[in-house]
Amino acid sequence: MKILIRKAKRRDVKKIAEVITKSFLETARRDCTKKKFEDYLGTHSPKKSEEELFDLYLRGAICFVAEANGEIVGIGNGVVENGRGRVSLLFVLPEYFRKGIGRKLMKRLEEDFIRNNVRYSYLRSSSLALAFYQDFGYKKTSGMKKSFGIKYYPMKKVL
Ligand SMILES: CC(C)(COP(=O)(O)OP(=O)(O)OC[C@H]1O[C@@H](n2cnc3c(N)ncnc32)[C@H](O)[C@@H]1OP(=O)(O)O)[C@@H](O)C(=O)NCCC(=O)NCCS
Repeated sequence: MKILIRKAKRRDVKKIAEVITKSFLETARRDCTKKKFEDYLGTHSPKKSEEELFDLYLRGAICFVAEANGEIVGIGNGVVENGRGRVSLLFVLPEYFRKGIGRKLMKRLEEDFIRNNVRYSYLRSSSLALAFYQDFGYKKTSGMKKSFGIKYYPMKKVL
């Protein structure tokens, strides 16, 4: 299967919200309280306006999408702040897991971080993604944390 990674555009934002929603619904229950789970789905609702979703995913951010057969099947988003790169969102549709798409999206994000003179990247991993990020060279900076109803592992990598 051919996977194309490209910069996200304004017209992609509803599809990005759909991919996040589908992936989150199938994977995140064990990491969240019921309230957080519902709040997250509300935040990423594809029913929001294009303007709101543009602000959420693209304004001031680096955002890539993965396409398979012309359909968006994955999304990776990050920001450069205080000289560091932060991976904020990484989601692949469950039916496309383990095909190397997450890795391709991360590679592009990190390349963009490096282009922005960033030398280290950090993120908050879900429990499902821990092995994925470890495989990609990220190291836990502490044990599991909980904040606002969600469990995560803080991780970082020197680029
Ligand atoms: C995390 C996620 C983005 C990974 O995407 P993916 O396209 O399936 O990952 P890849 O195929 O590129 O995986 C690369 C390597 O990571 C590791 N890996 C990926 N998923 C794994 C899993 N569930 N368990 C163990 N190792 C895993 C493997 O070493 C894999 O290589 P292999 O398939 O050759 O063994 C995807 O599982 C996802 O969208 N999860 C739900 C959302 C989420 O938790 N995102 C992270 C938020 S912080």
